[in-house]
Amino acid sequence: MEITREEAFNLLKEYVDSKSLLKHCLAVEASMRGYAEKFGEDIEVWSSCGLLHDIDFEKYPDDHPFKGAEILKEKGYPEDFVMAVKGHADYTNTPRETQMAKTLYAVDELSSFVIACVLVRPNKFEGLKVKSVKKKLKDKAFAKAVDRDQIKNSAQELGIELTEHIQTVIDALVKREKELKEQGLSLIE
Ligand SMILES: [Fe+2]
Ligand SMILES: [Fe+2]
Repeated sequence: MEITREEAFNLLKEYVDSKSLLKHCLAVEASMRGYAEKFGEDIEVWSSCGLLHDIDFEKYPDDHPFKGAEILKEKGYPEDFVMAVKGHADYTNTPRETQMAKTLYAVDELSSFVIACVLVRPNKFEGLKVKSVKKKLKDKAFAKAVDRDQIKNSAQELGIELTEHIQTVIDALVKREKELKEQGLSLIE
C-alpha cells in the first residue's frame, strides 16, 4: 500500500473528535516531518506515523496503543509502521528497531511539552529558544504530566543530543504552524 498523509489524516478523523488530541497528533506529526527531512526519510510515511500514533486514544484508552496497532494493521499499514506505533508506549515492551520508531518515541512527549511552553508565551512561537524550553524542563511544577526522564532517555536512544533534539522539534513546529495556518488549522488554537 502507498502511505499518504491525506489518507492518514482522514483515518485519524474517523476516530478522533477531541480537539486537544487532534492538536497533539498534529504536533507529533510536525516533529516527525522535521526529522524525516533531517534524516532524508519519507515525509508522507513519517508524517502519517506521527498523525496516527494515538488514533485509538479517545475511543479505546484502556487498550492504547494495542487497538491502534490493530486498526492500522487492518487498514494495511506495514509491519514497521505498526511496530513504531506500538513501540511509543513502553509498557507494550515493543522493541524500537527502526529510526522511525525511535523518532516517534522521542518526539511524542517533547512535542507536547514545547507546545505547552509556547502557550504560556506572549509571543507564542516567535523567538522561542532551546534555553527557555530547558528551563521549563527543570521547573517541576510546569506541565507536570510530562515525564522528563522519558524526554532525556528517548533522545539518547535516538542518538541525538538533547539541545539539538529540542531545536529540531522547535524548528519543525514553527515551520508546520505556518503551513497549517494556511489551511485554517493551528497547533495552538
Ligand atoms: Fe500514546
Ligand atoms: Fe502521543
